[in-house]
Amino acid sequence: MTCKALAPLLLVSSALAAPVASQSTLPLPATAAGSDRALSAETRSRALVAAMTTEEKLAIVHGYFPPLAKPAQPIAMVSSAGHVPGVPRLGIPILRESDASLGVANQIEQRKGDTATALPASIATAATFNPALAYAGGAMIGAEARAKTFNVLLAGGVNLTRDPWNGRNFEYLGEDPLLSGVMAGEHIRGVQSNHIVSTIKHFALNAQETGRTVLDARIDKAALRESDLLAFEIANEIGQPGSVMCAYNKVNGDYACENDWLLNTVLKQDWGYKGWVMSDWGAVHSTDKAALGGLDQESGQELDDAIHFGKPFEEAVKAGRIPMARLDDMVERILYGMIATGLMDDPVPATARQIDYAASAEVAQRAAEEGIVLLKNEGDLLPLAKTARRIVLIGGHADVGVLSGGGSSQVRSVGGVPVEIALTKGAAASFARMTWHASSPLKAIQALVPQAEVTYVDGSDARAAAQAAKSADLAIVFGWQWQTEAQDPETMRLPGNQDAVIDAVASANRKTIVVLETGGPVEMPWLAKVPTLLEAWYPGQRGGEAIANVLFGDVAPSGRLPITFPASAAQAPRAQPAGLAELHAADARREAGDTSNYGMTGGVAPFAVDYPEGAEVGYRWYAKTGRKPLFPFGHGLTYTRFVYANLNVQDGAALTVSFDVTNTGARVGAAVPQLYVEAKGSAGIAAWRLAGFDKLSLSPGETRRVSMTVDPRVIARFDEARRKWQLDGGAYALAVGRFAGDAALRGSAMLRPQTIKP
Ligand code: BGC
Repeated sequence: MTCKALAPLLLVSSALAAPVASQSTLPLPATAAGSDRALSAETRSRALVAAMTTEEKLAIVHGYFPPLAKPAQPIAMVSSAGHVPGVPRLGIPILRESDASLGVANQIEQRKGDTATALPASIATAATFNPALAYAGGAMIGAEARAKTFNVLLAGGVNLTRDPWNGRNFEYLGEDPLLSGVMAGEHIRGVQSNHIVSTIKHFALNAQETGRTVLDARIDKAALRESDLLAFEIANEIGQPGSVMCAYNKVNGDYACENDWLLNTVLKQDWGYKGWVMSDWGAVHSTDKAALGGLDQESGQELDDAIHFGKPFEEAVKAGRIPMARLDDMVERILYGMIATGLMDDPVPATARQIDYAASAEVAQRAAEEGIVLLKNEGDLLPLAKTARRIVLIGGHADVGVLSGGGSSQVRSVGGVPVEIALTKGAAASFARMTWHASSPLKAIQALVPQAEVTYVDGSDARAAAQAAKSADLAIVFGWQWQTEAQDPETMRLPGNQDAVIDAVASANRKTIVVLETGGPVEMPWLAKVPTLLEAWYPGQRGGEAIANVLFGDVAPSGRLPITFPASAAQAPRAQPAGLAELHAADARREAGDTSNYGMTGGVAPFAVDYPEGAEVGYRWYAKTGRKPLFPFGHGLTYTRFVYANLNVQDGAALTVSFDVTNTGARVGAAVPQLYVEAKGSAGIAAWRLAGFDKLSLSPGETRRVSMTVDPRVIARFDEARRKWQLDGGAYALAVGRFAGDAALRGSAMLRPQTIKP
């Protein structure tokens, strides 16, 4: 323990030492104060800590991983991600933790028969550009979780997409800090509206899955503040999550879960975060360093190489290496998160309750419909006429369902699992299976066009697929790429023979529509031949219906890309996951018969990943390096047209931009105006940054005025030496457009210099 590491902790403790009586006229006994709803969450958590024994405190700073847990006495443990015992005599409830990015998860059906509503992938929710839908999704998941007796949801994934191939991009909200931060914040707010805790994760820079438990992510600190950390900062402000989950990887040399700079300096001091930091599962590597570095609770302890916050922690406290004040701070933070979210005062039911799955499914369908992005529509092939006679669907198991992403977010969806394929190798094999939700595009299309003959061929044979396409009026090919936590795809190509199938089908029938079910961008060597392309992501348990409704125009497409689609992997900052050599070496050792249990590392030797692009993530990188992607960030077509006019800029101390948007086409549609401002990055580089967005549905001929006030942090640079945002005074160019790089309206603003606390 160093004095430097302790200083911030002492500061925290003295700040929390505000007298209890100041909030209440009568001095209450500590336990009564703990349950007095009239008092602040800080006061109550402090009072509860004062009433706890050391043993009780020690018991709640680490939690079980139920599938592997062997508690000394039987405890009421549900099979899920985590369990932390409560303190019944003080009314402190058990924490039952479930994964929940896209719905209440039930990986590899650990709870037999327990289904839940599966939302589309988070990237699809981000593509809606509609914060209200992010909130609705969170509220739905939270309600289902509560009814299933879970009170802590491991939701709120907000890592920025730095690499198009990251295996977990589907669980995140894209590449822009403002969009990601707002959407994550709203999702968390929705979850917590049910009086349960949501996490925000994975703090920070868990930007690839290859070697995630051993890699050292290296980046300039100021650049990190302006990008990934800004997304967390915005989401924290909006969502106020009860807990923050620190990541597996190292950041600039220290593991994220023992990273004093990340956890103490940035999160707790600079942002004033009052909740608790829980580790990712198997992400704790030390006791003293982690506790003093800001970790408040070890999760899924059986997955760590030792139960670091168990016996070794107790000994460290006894020996004075971890001060009692720090243990108190940890427990106070846990209790604060429980009280501030309402979890403590409005406990979840003791036994499972009925769920209105029909209502939940509506939420899933709306998110899927608004998240689908129409990438290309040459000759206005879409919306399809309902007079079509013979339609053939090809590939992607579109006869029975839609693809889901894999890993801890896996929901066992209502309606069942028509296709499920176990993995035989790879880091995800123990907890992920390739899974399709039972939402059949074939059935949904047939329901919309009952007079048509809608058939399906599986796409295993390119010639048979082309033949079927030739004899149909139109062909809809489903291209898919499964992604999962714990692995990165090594290429951006659609797997198997899919490129050949799409090529052959498009050659056989001009009226070919490709529907992609992917977690992010893929290379599209066939694109020039294909007139019509939809990105449906992993569209969740109502995905089939959503796809059909968009294809036939029952729903106007309104999604926009929350990530850039590069023309090829070579355009991205890193063409491949770093650490592939280390991963392949570990695989080779296993194949040669090495049966070592490598635990969480999978035997992968440590390596570094450099992020020299710094804050210029995604579209900013393409702009900075002059690369023209296949489809830019923010892109998405509609079945109508929009015109932007009458730009007004109010500048000076703050920046507010307003303009008119008119639907000049013949159909209802949603415009997603985006404001980009040219900011000065930390390295002094001018860069365009998304500074505002909106989504508005307009009838033909309708005009509406849009106004956006810019959060100055989005366009400021971070001064790491002073630990402050610095908005330089002077002229800023701005553009209002439909995607990154577009400028339907141009303007400029004169801004006064401003220093903003982080
Ligand atoms: C994932 C987390 C998840 C946890 C518990 C980890 O492997 O990275 O996102 O919440 O497992 O299942």
